[in-house]
Amino acid sequence: MKKNPTVAIAGVTGAVGAEFIACLNQRNFPVGKLKALASARSAGKTLEFRGETIVIEELTEASFEGVDIALFSAGGGPSRKFAPAAVKAGAVVVDNSSAFRMDPNVPLVIPEINARRIKDHKGIIANPNCSAITALVPLWPIHRKNRIRRLIISTYQAASGAGAAAMQELVDSTRAHLNGKPFTPKVLPHPYAFNVFSHNTAIDPETGYNGEETKVIAETKKIFEDDKIAIGVTCVRVPVLRAHSESIVFECEKPITEDEVRAILSDAPGVRIVDDRVNNYFPMPIDASGQGDVLVGRIRKDLSDPSGHSIAMFVAADQLLKGAALNAVQIAELLL
Ligand SMILES: NC(=O)c1ccc[n+]([C@@H]2O[C@H](COP(=O)([O-])OP(=O)(O)OC[C@H]3O[C@@H](n4cnc5c(N)ncnc54)[C@H](OP(=O)(O)O)[C@@H]3O)[C@@H](O)[C@H]2O)c1
Repeated sequence: MKKNPTVAIAGVTGAVGAEFIACLNQRNFPVGKLKALASARSAGKTLEFRGETIVIEELTEASFEGVDIALFSAGGGPSRKFAPAAVKAGAVVVDNSSAFRMDPNVPLVIPEINARRIKDHKGIIANPNCSAITALVPLWPIHRKNRIRRLIISTYQAASGAGAAAMQELVDSTRAHLNGKPFTPKVLPHPYAFNVFSHNTAIDPETGYNGEETKVIAETKKIFEDDKIAIGVTCVRVPVLRAHSESIVFECEKPITEDEVRAILSDAPGVRIVDDRVNNYFPMPIDASGQGDVLVGRIRKDLSDPSGHSIAMFVAADQLLKGAALNAVQIAELLL
């Protein structure tokens, strides 16, 4: 890989695309040249990058000549259609969609957990699902010390996880609600203001699990390289603009105490403990927004397991950053 690679961003006008630009800048990523790609709708618009005006181009199969690293966040369809062309042109693709995550030839990477898998890539590296990243960054160092055999996750997912249009819909529907005006949802399937609903991915009629839940289960097993870990997940959207939160309960093979968990997490990469019982101050999406750590708190014994093998905790992370753009840029840094 070149020292100053040419970087393409496919989906540059989206919620994740904007954070790609921010992360490249904040982390001083040595971009030789930036190619900004989006749909035909955005072609010809411009953006500013390091003092230069870059013209956004339509993403096509011909977009990748001379590109070394292609960061994709344009959705599963465009990834399936255009990532192979990027690889053919010689680029390494870091893909944010779910298109390739479960492909056995594609490493599914969270750098704090399995950076060593990056070298196995055959042109494409997948970024995991954002709910999976949020849970797994703090669970991994615990799992390594005392294998987690059972895991129950309940998510409280923000509008930002569904893209820029969903964030706007939350703002517009809240304003309409407060003004006593009717609002018809266009992006999400249910009224979002002052409401909570089951995640908007399709439900498998056989299992009753939705697509988001199924992704968290399958991706956890792949990233932990542990097929036997038993996982139950409930994914829900809450009317929060940005950053996902999750309630997590896990059961280990050996007994474990909350002090042991705190000690493990106190120097875990990508984790910040926010666990102030005196002031009732714990992880909140508003604090998680705009920063790269997974905030972890409410670390306590799970009282439903008197054997002392189980711990409950609450986490929050900015899924546009650690759940998407930041994780992908960390992977790109390791490619260098
Ligand atoms: N949001 C998250 O937290 C998150 C987390 C992890 C992964 N992801 C994944 O990242 C991807 C983008 O998510 P997002 O939240 O950024 O969505 P978004 O805000 O809706 O942005 C979508 C982006 O994709 C572009 N695009 C859409 N269709 C395209 C096409 N046919 N050809 C080229 N570009 C196209 C859009 O360009 P125009 O502006 O020109 O339409 C826009 O730049 C999705 O695959 C999503 O699953 C998102």
